[in-house]
Amino acid sequence: MSGGRRLAWGAGIGVLLFAIGYGLNARGWLSFSLGSPDSATIKVGDVGYSREAMQADREAQSKDKLAVTAGMPVGPDGYFVPPAESSIPDTPYGEAVRRGQQIFMETSTTVSDHVGNTLACVNCHLDAGRREHSAPMWGAYVSYPAYRSKTKAISTLEDRIIGCFTYSMNAQASSTGVAPPAGSDVYRDLMTYMYWMSDGAPTGQKLPGAGFPKVKKTELGYDVARGKEVYTNNCVLCHAVDGQGQKDAESGVVFPPLWGNNSYNWGAGMARIDTAAGFIKANMPLGKPFSLTDQEAWDVAAYINSHERPKDPRQTGTLEQARVEFHDGEESYYGKKVNGLVLGGGVDK
Ligand code: HEC
Ligand code: HEC
Repeated sequence: MSGGRRLAWGAGIGVLLFAIGYGLNARGWLSFSLGSPDSATIKVGDVGYSREAMQADREAQSKDKLAVTAGMPVGPDGYFVPPAESSIPDTPYGEAVRRGQQIFMETSTTVSDHVGNTLACVNCHLDAGRREHSAPMWGAYVSYPAYRSKTKAISTLEDRIIGCFTYSMNAQASSTGVAPPAGSDVYRDLMTYMYWMSDGAPTGQKLPGAGFPKVKKTELGYDVARGKEVYTNNCVLCHAVDGQGQKDAESGVVFPPLWGNNSYNWGAGMARIDTAAGFIKANMPLGKPFSLTDQEAWDVAAYINSHERPKDPRQTGTLEQARVEFHDGEESYYGKKVNGLVLGGGVDK
């Protein structure tokens, strides 16, 4: 074997081993640096206000209404600590929680009739929806119903999940062509999972770590060519040069696609450069949160969102009409020219 080929083989095996490791980890059999859903279980001694302390306060209060009010369980970093996965009860309620978790982790296979790409909820809401700064489900559960400017109406939590099926999961390309109908068991199970995860989280305030962080605008603005360089240096290993990520015959998608027909569509929050920059800054490269500069996060977000992806399902007339109606004033390349091509027309499936 020539030196070059040996090197290529070595690199290939390295990626494969990482992929296998990640696949196992995602299923909770292995727990290394990436952390399993149970990793937020905290030890007494290094906590802000532990779940155990909250439980004790709840019991005291049940006996004496003037006893100290139970507060929100937080870890040493001040973020909400959801219950450990091992505490899901063996009851009909617990079964619904587990079903919801499975839908969350394996969306394109469990709800295949309504998912038009190869993504799962967990690809953007990390660590089974538990991770701060990746729009965790405990941050979402306590924030709805709420008014949204995107829809100019009050959204319930179910409406919000329908939104992620419609845009992030590109339901238009599924066999039914739509998100699961309102009232479906899919939402019932997902919301039961979110309710379980939010035990102890208060309503009425935006919790630290809820949503995606905002990245401040930079003097240089954002640039596709600079972003390509950031991508080559930090993202190619997992998401590949063609942005299609990597699949593994047994466990399915290991590294999700970032553009093309298996990705989120043009109507998705992630297709906005500002939203993607916030997600990337806090979560990518995987395992290295907050390692990119703000400039790098903006540029690489611009790069991934300068590629074609499935069309915005709200487009009924021309691209320009949809741009004016739904994308005006947004940090997005929808309906704009990049490298001589107008983006937003969609990809053929
Ligand atoms: C491609 C990435 C992506 C995928 C996949 C995805 N989401 Fe989201 N989700 C987002 C983004 C981005 C936002 C918030 C930004 C926006 O849309 O304004 C969001 C917001 C949410 C919110 C509201 C969060 C909050 O704090 O207000 C919920 C709930 C949610 N998603 C649930 C889901 C569920 C359930 C699935 C799977 C069926 C899913 N998402 C799949 C990207 C994604
Ligand atoms: C070590 C491997 C790895 C590296 C390096 C990496 N990612 Fe990811 N990325 C992942 C994985 C795995 C997920 C899905 C997370 C999950 O399911 O837990 C993901 C998810 C994403 C998502 C949301 C899901 C989607 O498909 O749209 C985006 C956007 C993203 N990565 C962008 C980037 C960018 C930009 C970089 C470089 C700055 C990067 N990633 C580097 C592994 C990686």
